[in-house]
Amino acid sequence: MVPLFDLTRQYQALKPELDAAVVGVLSSGQYVMGPAVEGFEAQCARELGVGHAIGVANGTDALQIALRAMKIEPGDEVITTPFTFYSAAEVTADLGAKPVFVDIEADTFNIDPRLIEAAITPRTRAIIPVHLFGHPAAMREINRIAAKHDLRVLEDSAQGWGASLDGVMCGNLADAGTFSFFPSKNLGACGEGGLISTNDDDIAQIARSLRVHGQSRRYFYDEIGYNSRLHALQAAILSVKLPHARAWNESRRRHAVHYAHLLGETPFIVPVERPGACHVYHQYTLRLPDALDRDKICAHLTEKGIGWAIYYPLPLHLQPVFADLGYKEGQLPVAEAASRQVLSLPVFPELEEGEVEEVGAALQAAL
Ligand SMILES: Cc1ncc(COP(=O)(O)O)c(C=O)c1O
Repeated sequence: MVPLFDLTRQYQALKPELDAAVVGVLSSGQYVMGPAVEGFEAQCARELGVGHAIGVANGTDALQIALRAMKIEPGDEVITTPFTFYSAAEVTADLGAKPVFVDIEADTFNIDPRLIEAAITPRTRAIIPVHLFGHPAAMREINRIAAKHDLRVLEDSAQGWGASLDGVMCGNLADAGTFSFFPSKNLGACGEGGLISTNDDDIAQIARSLRVHGQSRRYFYDEIGYNSRLHALQAAILSVKLPHARAWNESRRRHAVHYAHLLGETPFIVPVERPGACHVYHQYTLRLPDALDRDKICAHLTEKGIGWAIYYPLPLHLQPVFADLGYKEGQLPVAEAASRQVLSLPVFPELEEGEVEEVGAALQAAL
């Protein structure tokens, strides 16, 4: 049996420190904001190299608040990828703005910068690249296009804690970045959590206000906001975990090398790492050529007790919720092919080498 992920292994490895951190918050009586949150925000700012790190309730709220802080308004258009988790498009639409989907690169699964300019209209205000599966999006090209057309860029780095491009951390590559601390993320809480990172003082100030109902000072409100604070208990837990995240990412990268070695002579297409990019393998995602029957291969893995997942089975432009946007099947063919062909394997840091070998052997047998 090899699970897709097992969060208890990480807890067991850090049990004394995590238990002490939780007890520390419980005994402090400071359950909302306070020193645990401030301490964690300072740690994040140092690790990411940014001027401001603002804890919020989850990665979805982080995107919504960051878009609001960038002044995205109803009727605006926001360019993003159709091949990702729902949140970026969801919050764009929730603000009354329009998500505009641009197809992806076949090898990294990230938004294809060569297709962005054709999607820009007079209403375009921002681009949200996603560092999908932990591989940095093509930020040099994206930032160049944004500068030329005066657009904001918001990195969805929910899956990219610790990833970097040319030595700069994801979350510090654009106007702002957002993170999720969902438990299975590369830096995961024991519950929900999120973060906004930015070097822009105005974005930071608005985001800090929006996470507390849009108040400028206590009980004085400038705008409609949210109740979206990072919980003190989660912040304390994350503070214990953060110093280990680099080693955990190294472990994910080792598993990736191991898988690539085991699957080298097979038709499975293994993930790439572009020059200058540090991939942190939030997911280790294979592409299966159409000639292979993905359902049968998955059934074989299940039979052998091996965890797997399809991230993501239907691209966002074809989701019922966005039917009104008028996208048709075949319009974004690379994303559509990815949805048909991807298969994610266990890659969590505590996975043992023998388990990686078991997964590799099961895949070989499935062929
Ligand atoms: C790419 C991406 N963006 C946003 C989110 C939303 O984060 P959360 O679940 O913390 O709201 C997630 C994950 O859950 C994600 O994978």
